[in-house]
Amino acid sequence: MVAYKSKMVEQISLPSSAQRERNLEEAGYNVFNLAAEDVFIDLLTDSGTGTMSDDQWAALIRGDEAYAGSRSFDRLESAVADVMGFERVVPTHQGRGAENVLYGTLLSEGDVALNNTHFDTTRAHVANQGADPVDCPVSEAHDPEADEPFKGNFSLDRARSVVDEVGAERVPLVILTITNNSAAGQPVSVANTRRVREFADEIDATFVIDACRFAENAAFVTRREDEFADADVSSVAREQLGYADAVVMSGKKDGLVNVGGFVATDDEDLFEECKQRAILYEGFPTYGGMAGRDLAAMAVGLREAVDEAYVADRIEGVRRLGSRLAEAGVPVYEPTGGHAVYLDASAAFPHIPDEAFPGQALVCELYREGGVRGVELGSFAFPETDRPELVRLAVPRRTYHREHFDHVVETAAAALEERDAVSGYEIASEPSVPELRHFTATLEPR
Ligand code: F0G
Repeated sequence: MVAYKSKMVEQISLPSSAQRERNLEEAGYNVFNLAAEDVFIDLLTDSGTGTMSDDQWAALIRGDEAYAGSRSFDRLESAVADVMGFERVVPTHQGRGAENVLYGTLLSEGDVALNNTHFDTTRAHVANQGADPVDCPVSEAHDPEADEPFKGNFSLDRARSVVDEVGAERVPLVILTITNNSAAGQPVSVANTRRVREFADEIDATFVIDACRFAENAAFVTRREDEFADADVSSVAREQLGYADAVVMSGKKDGLVNVGGFVATDDEDLFEECKQRAILYEGFPTYGGMAGRDLAAMAVGLREAVDEAYVADRIEGVRRLGSRLAEAGVPVYEPTGGHAVYLDASAAFPHIPDEAFPGQALVCELYREGGVRGVELGSFAFPETDRPELVRLAVPRRTYHREHFDHVVETAAAALEERDAVSGYEIASEPSVPELRHFTATLEPR
């Protein structure tokens, strides 16, 4: 059942085949370098690319642009308290701003931070404090075929072995990322969240939830965790987040806005420290780098994110795209996550070795065949790590419809049909920071 209808439209067009070929070559076979208007269906990210509701646009017009004491900030505070259960909010310009504020407060040189899997910016902010980011995914997270309900879970065994090795006093921070973006958008169960809370207490660490996709995670819990079969999404969201000492949030995901983020907590001391750091990096604590209108739109978006009809439509739409791709013979990571379908590029192009970037080859074919933009999350994006060769097709919220997904499925099927003619790629130029190379490196066909 579709939960909304369109009220404003933006025309899109598919460049000709010859034009797409030229665009790809000029972009150095890196789709980050493509102009967005040359892309027909843009599945690069679900971050800040969604469509706002009429209520959000109405709130935006009424935004209060006061430097201090903005009414729009009060609205955000109330929404965070009602939807997420935290009384104290430090707004920031987006998720990584919140990471800088919170992790800069909690970490020092030589510390270790544990996370089910650090997202890139989280890893970078932990490292920026001189601390060591250590991933603790469950073993099935990296198996594209394991049909398990909560492949995003945090491995307590792995975490305990790290603590045994380095000593509990070096681990002041445990993070749980829901859903687990770097593990194919897989959800985390409430049972696992409770165990992480207990573990954090055992080692006297602060427990933070990266809540970017908290509503999608809660929707999976109501569908897959027996204890919550009769619960509603909003009560699961509050319960799950309630185990944490603080949350970091990118409003660009389940805040349903194009920009914005925050830290939220009930801990008065932590709040005061974050506020001081936020003044330095983000802005006065009642705007935090956002316009008042953006605070206002996010306050409305947070409430909409836990609406049952919205979130059911959201995760069902992504699941349907995944199953239709699988039916068309495209190898997909199973089960489909909350915000994206992940394709298994090694299975799609078995003749291309990892060092010739099969994922990037698939990304290029999707653009060449049908103007579809996805992103490689394999050995091109993560050099020298042992990750599966995945391509992410992230679905912007409330933006594309069934016909768009028909086109994506047809495009991917066509790309695979021509697989024998597809060769791998090699790097032509790359930046000095290897962790960030997939944003700006250029490639050429081998
Ligand atoms: N944490 C997670 C789990 C994320 O997925 C992101 C962003 C951030 C933090 C940072 O938030 O972009 O608002 O600064 N993920 C985007 C993506 C960019 O494409 O997955 P931000």
